[in-house]
Amino acid sequence: MSSKPLISFTEVAEESPYFLDVDSRPDWSAAFENDNPLKLEIGFGNGKFLIEMAVREPETNFVGMDFYHKGIRKVITRINKLQLKNIRIAYGDAKERIPHIFNDAELKMIYINFPDPWPKKRHYKRRLIKPPFVDLVANKLMDGGEVHVATDSEPYALEILEFLEAQPDLKNKIGPGVFLGNRNDFPRSKYENNFINAGDKIYYLDFVKESGASEIH
Ligand SMILES: C[S@@+](CC[C@H](N)C(=O)[O-])C[C@H]1O[C@@H](n2cnc3c(N)ncnc32)[C@H](O)[C@@H]1O
Repeated sequence: MSSKPLISFTEVAEESPYFLDVDSRPDWSAAFENDNPLKLEIGFGNGKFLIEMAVREPETNFVGMDFYHKGIRKVITRINKLQLKNIRIAYGDAKERIPHIFNDAELKMIYINFPDPWPKKRHYKRRLIKPPFVDLVANKLMDGGEVHVATDSEPYALEILEFLEAQPDLKNKIGPGVFLGNRNDFPRSKYENNFINAGDKIYYLDFVKESGASEIH
């Protein structure tokens, strides 16, 4: 019986032109061969949302950032198959890499779908979305740019809401202290589908960058 040969991370990802393991800013216009707007998904997992967005919006350049090898391998295989020219996969921890690989005010959108909630109280400190990270997000967004977050965890949702609302340049698009109960304008991520199919409540947060937003609140 012949078994399917395992293709390594190196073979699929590291040799792919779509994969970037960089800690300084690539020339994004040269990488994509155009000056289309740049949107980032942090923690794309199996890449369902990222790929569907890139198919929907061929005039937008998408960067996906994650450090999950299996997901990256899958996504790059699919990008190759679909011949998608408008996605690049940036490897690494978002907290460490984003400061170096994007200029301030360079991103039109940032999506964070189902960031790991670290449900045990003693693990809360491992959560990605903390005030310094929120400042980073605000710095990298252009004026009018948006950050979209989704989570099924109520305690994490409340914490994220508090941190995003405390950032002076970000404004809750839905209204102060409010979550969106559903989201129909984007494709669903894998986790989103799983939670919806299980009947779980999802908390969506949509914030827009308006420099000096806090002064007009
Ligand atoms: C719960 S999964 C959600 C996957 C996908 N967004 C979805 O909704 O189906 C969280 C993802 O975030 C990634 N992740 C967690 N912390 C990260 C970090 N600091 N930088 C980049 N990716 C991260 C994990 O590797 C994982 O793929």
